[in-house]
Parts: sequence; C-alpha cells; structure tokens
Amino acid sequence: MSGASEALLPAMIREKMAEFIPVEPFDIVIMGGNGDLSRRKLLPALFHRHLDGQIHPSCRIVAVARQNMSRADFVDFAEVACRKATQNWDESTWTDFASRLFYQIMDATDKNGPWDKIKKHLTRDDRICVFYLATTPRIYVDICDALKANGLNGPWSRLVLEKPIGTDLASAREINRGVGAVFPENSIYRIDHYLGKETVQNLLVLRFANTLFEPVWSRNTIDHVQITVAESLGLEGRADYFDRSGAVRDMIQNHLLQLLCLTAMEPPNELDADSVRTEKIKVLKALQRFTPNNVKQNSVRAQHKAGLVDGKAVPGYLENLSSGESSTETFVALKVEVANWRWAGVPFYLRTGKRMESRRSEIVVQFKPTPHRLFENADRAPNQLVIRLQPDEGMRLYMQIKEPGPGRMRLKSLPLNLAYAEEFLVRYPDAYERLLMDVIRGNLSLFMRSDEVEEAWRWVDALLQAWEDSDQPLETYQAGTDGPLQSAMLIDRDGRNWWNSK
Ligand code: BG6
Repeated sequence: MSGASEALLPAMIREKMAEFIPVEPFDIVIMGGNGDLSRRKLLPALFHRHLDGQIHPSCRIVAVARQNMSRADFVDFAEVACRKATQNWDESTWTDFASRLFYQIMDATDKNGPWDKIKKHLTRDDRICVFYLATTPRIYVDICDALKANGLNGPWSRLVLEKPIGTDLASAREINRGVGAVFPENSIYRIDHYLGKETVQNLLVLRFANTLFEPVWSRNTIDHVQITVAESLGLEGRADYFDRSGAVRDMIQNHLLQLLCLTAMEPPNELDADSVRTEKIKVLKALQRFTPNNVKQNSVRAQHKAGLVDGKAVPGYLENLSSGESSTETFVALKVEVANWRWAGVPFYLRTGKRMESRRSEIVVQFKPTPHRLFENADRAPNQLVIRLQPDEGMRLYMQIKEPGPGRMRLKSLPLNLAYAEEFLVRYPDAYERLLMDVIRGNLSLFMRSDEVEEAWRWVDALLQAWEDSDQPLETYQAGTDGPLQSAMLIDRDGRNWWNSK
C-alpha cells in the first residue's frame, strides 16, 4: 500500500499495520537469477519490499545465469513472477522496480567470466553488496573462488547460501570450509526460510516474552510435542533434485529440525545471533541418534501413489520420474527424543510429506492430563497449544470449559483463539522478504551457523545410515491422505494420535 493511500485509513487500522523501516542502500547479485527460487520467491520478495518503500531507489538487482536471455526477456520473466505474487498491481511502481533489474549471461564459477560487466552495475565503495547463491550447492565453493578472484569478497560483501548446504555431513563440511576460506562466518547467511516465517518467530516471542509458558515448558507438564509440515503439492518440476534428496534431506534436516530447536531450546540470555544459535545447537546435540536397532520402531518412510488432491487426480511419485523407478521417500514420520534434563522422556513426533491431504504446518504441544478426575463422566482431555504456521497463522490454546446449561456438569475442549489475520490487518510478508532485509541489516539470528548445519547433518546421516543398515521398508500412501497407516501406528503404539485440525 502506498504512503498516500495509507494515510486515508482510519487510525485504528493504521495502528495495526506493519511499519517498514527503510534499510541501507544495497545491491544484490542473484546467481541462478532466472531459476525457480528467483522466480517464485526472491524477485517477488524484493518487489514487495520495493512496494513498501523499504529499499532505496538506487538499489540494483543483477541476475546472473548461463542461459541466453536479453535484459528485456529477464524483465518480462520478473514481471510474470511478481504479478503472480502481488494482489494490488500498480503499473508505475512496477516500471520503477523494473528499471533496477539487470541480467548477465555468465557461468558464475568461471573466474575469467565477464565479471567486469557485473561490477559496472554495482555501486561498490562501501555499499552493501549481497551475493545470493540460488544455484546447486555443488558449485557454491567454485562461485566463491570466482568472487574472490575478481575482488568481490570485500568487507561490504555478504554471501547468502540457499539450503541444502550439502547432502551429508562430509559435503556440508566441504562447502563450509570452501566458502569460509573466502568470506568470514559473519558475512555468510545460510537460509532456512522457515526461520523467516512470522509464526516461527512468534514462537520465540510466545516462549520468552510471556511468563505463562516457561514454568510449564518441560517434561513435568508436557506429554509430547508434534511437528507436522504437510504439503499438498508434489514435485513442481523439481523431480531431479528431489529424487536425489528425499523428504529427510529436503525437509527434516532443515525446516523440521529448526522448528524442533526453537520449541525445545533453553532461553538464550540475549537475542543476538550467537546466543540463539548456541542454544539451538545444544538441542541438536541432545537429539538421540537413530541406530539400526531403534530405527524401525521409531520411524516410517513412505512414497506416495496416485490419488486425489483437492479434488484433482494426481499421479504417483514414480510417474514423475523418467526412469519410473525410485526408492526415495516423499513422506517421513519420526519419534525423537531430546535427551536432556528438561525433555527426558518427552517424545517429539515429526512428520512431513508431499501430496498429502492439505497444506498444513503446525506445532502441537500437548500437556499432561489432570492428575485426578474431579468431574465425573468427563474426559480428562489434556490442554493443547496449537501453533499454526500456515495457512491461517495463529495460536490456539485448548482448555476444558463447562458447557452452558442447568443439567449435569458437562465439559468441552475449546480453544482460546488468536488468529493473526483477524488481529493484524497486514498482508503476511513472505519469509524471504524478512530474511533478505535481515541480510541487509546484518542480523544473523535467523540464519544457520556452520556448526549448526553440520550438527543437523550428523544426526540425519545417522538416520539414513540406520535405514540402510536395517533395510527399512519403504511404505506407500495414497496421494491426498494423511500418509501411510504405519505413521498412525507409530504414534498409536504410545497411546497417542496425530493432531487433526481439519
Ligand atoms: C523447501 C523444500 O525448502 O520448502 C520444498 O525444498 C518445500 O520441497 C518447501 O516444498 C516448503 O516451503 P513452504 O514455505 O511452502 O512451506
């Protein structure tokens, strides 16, 4: 919304709207600039920050890719992407944004490429310059070497690495070592876009800006925690990448482990990047490792078959692949334990999958039932705190309430409901908008440190190895469902159920 139209809104509404504090002038170079991430996320994110007047008019956006494309073609590509992601399209704002866009054909790993042409677009001196590597991680180190060879790794440079950082601990270390030889750790921003989601940041606020939850946030009162990231989408043109990764590497290693860390970590003494990241890494270190002996009991891997999603017939996973063969998992369910004083004995159930019934990401903290049944004929239904990350962001705290009426005392579980959309009249910014602005502000709190990434891989490597050593079976599930039966059985064995907020 532009400044002028904003001023016409009633004061009450204006108060509820987000404030945008302009960031320092910067330039950004996106390697892989005509790729999927750039199209779906980065260009629309920059455009929205431009719409809100947060980025300086002199900011330049340079896309670098090998594909032969003219600047006009790239501007068309960006326009299609931004229109798709924008509700109130304004032609003159677009024209203004488009004038900042440039395209350079180049192999970014080639030290002898036309780097001078890129430099011409950059303001340099001491202006912040962001190099965003939206390419395959296999070439991260080579790109950094090329940046160094061309003098682009100065103190004003910031490097953004998109996940996944490697495919296992060894490759992650190699990348960290290679990029670390060119950029200092405090100039490297490793993105996990889940950390940029509003509700995920709100989890920190909920836990550490309220006194209510901390005293009950432990094994004394919490029965278990569930973290679900369900997607109704399939591979969306990324079959090659996904088939090499699978749901564990694509989702668990990063997004779900990050959510687990924020839920389980101790309060940091400050909010600076290192304090937060140090607490998260302690959680990763306390995660019990899978072994061939415990993995069957505590994990499920599955691949989807054909089915109906949102009323539409979708093909099975294998039909997306040219080979028609694969044992890659599109769904995982895990029971894990954070082995420390606070959480000993509290299971954390994690699950994620493609082509599930609906898109739904949430964290459910289930408290223990009351120790004594006071109300006859009433269930000792436990309190639950449901943190909804998407869609319909918000939080619900389920409480036992007396049903009105003069008859016998009847209890019902109902939520205290905080729906963000009703409370705040703001458009929910995409996670990349916040994260890109944090890169410019130099705020590393929402980015992963090298040791954090490596610790997560160490744990994931053990899981993958345990699957391999124990010949863990690959189950199947029908697209458009909640996953395989074995996932329901995993939690049912403990006398619990997956939370179902449909
Ligand atoms: C990405 C994964 O990191 O996250 C994708 O590579 C997944 O496979 C996506 O679809 C999910 O993100 P979101 O924000 O849509 O929940």
